[in-house]
Amino acid sequence: MPNPTNDTLLRALRREPTPYAPVWLMRQAGRYLPEYNVTRGRAGSFMALAQSPALATEVTLQPLARFPLDAAILFSDILTVPDAMGLGLHFEQGEGPRFARTAADEAAIAALAVPDMAKLRYVFDAVAQIKRALAGSVPLLGFAGSPFTLACYMIEGSGSTDFASVRKMVCARPDLLQRLVDVNARAVAAYLNEQIAQGADAVMLFDTWGGLLSTAAYRAYSLRSMREVLAALRPGPDGRKVPTIVFTKGGGQWLADLAESGASAVGLDWTADMARARRDVGARVALQGNLDPVVLLTDPATVTREAKAVVRAAGPAPGHIFNLGHGIMPATPPENVAALVAAVHEESRAARAAP
Ligand code: CP3
Repeated sequence: MPNPTNDTLLRALRREPTPYAPVWLMRQAGRYLPEYNVTRGRAGSFMALAQSPALATEVTLQPLARFPLDAAILFSDILTVPDAMGLGLHFEQGEGPRFARTAADEAAIAALAVPDMAKLRYVFDAVAQIKRALAGSVPLLGFAGSPFTLACYMIEGSGSTDFASVRKMVCARPDLLQRLVDVNARAVAAYLNEQIAQGADAVMLFDTWGGLLSTAAYRAYSLRSMREVLAALRPGPDGRKVPTIVFTKGGGQWLADLAESGASAVGLDWTADMARARRDVGARVALQGNLDPVVLLTDPATVTREAKAVVRAAGPAPGHIFNLGHGIMPATPPENVAALVAAVHEESRAARAAP
């Protein structure tokens, strides 16, 4: 299979020189795009959309038709894995995810097993279909939730602002939390390996809630399980190691640990100091980020100014992938995304051309 024509993202992940900083955006396919809302309406629900490879392909490509982004990301959700474990996922319009059953006590956690990957066939079929539709234009990112972040939703049964029941389990029943995280790590490794087999060019672990933990608990339950997943990944169909990204929201204080996780790149949220991160660990890993997504709620001139400031903070050395510090917000005007992508390409190209 030929390399993608625009391989800027893959080169930046390997810290090879690129003519400009590649840019993609977390949740780049989503509710801020009117065409997404039309397709979602046709599907009837978020899960019906995610479970149809044809519709998942359609929405994956929507942001690429509007903006010259440097990567596509599989349209799916991190919670497909616990759903396949039998927890019964559903999304109500305007609400967050909900599970019909939780995995919060000894019996429920003991009953969990790595799901039969056939239950997630719809995801792997979507990867294969998106790859064909991209026809080598840009790389395709696959993804999964981190074992700990999945555990948060499995214990709580829904989203939460503080996941207090999970943090309580850290000290009250560390043995149970460990068992849950272990089964999740094996499930996530199998899930990502299947995405890689179907052609995902790079994969990302979303650790949205690891930042809620104490340093000791973060290392024990979040970081260690992500290392296990990364160590279990197989090469791509071309025999090369598939580049990997880890993103712990709120993980800026653990940057040195993350740089040793085995990932090719570390994602930073907007509270992290990009310039300092590049100085401290930029010789060991690529860095991804880190514009505050609320900047996209302003206007094109402000977006341009703030995006250029992130590009300058990262500097022209190889290994910066521009992104937001978290997912794009539903109220984002699409014209601000156009201004963002243009500003990143222009500013980073100029910085690399400078003597
Ligand atoms: O980035 C992309 O464009 C790929 C698609 C993607 C989605 N979810 C689609 C989605 C990815 C990578 C995710 C990851 C995900 N899902 C995370 C980790 C990243 C993060 O945002 O922290 C988490 C924690 C989830 C769980 C989840 N899914 C929540 C909490 C919600 C509801 C919150 C919300 O934004 O409404 C979802 C639903 C969801 N996943 C939507 C999309 C486009 C919106 C659902 C809809 O259309 O109704």
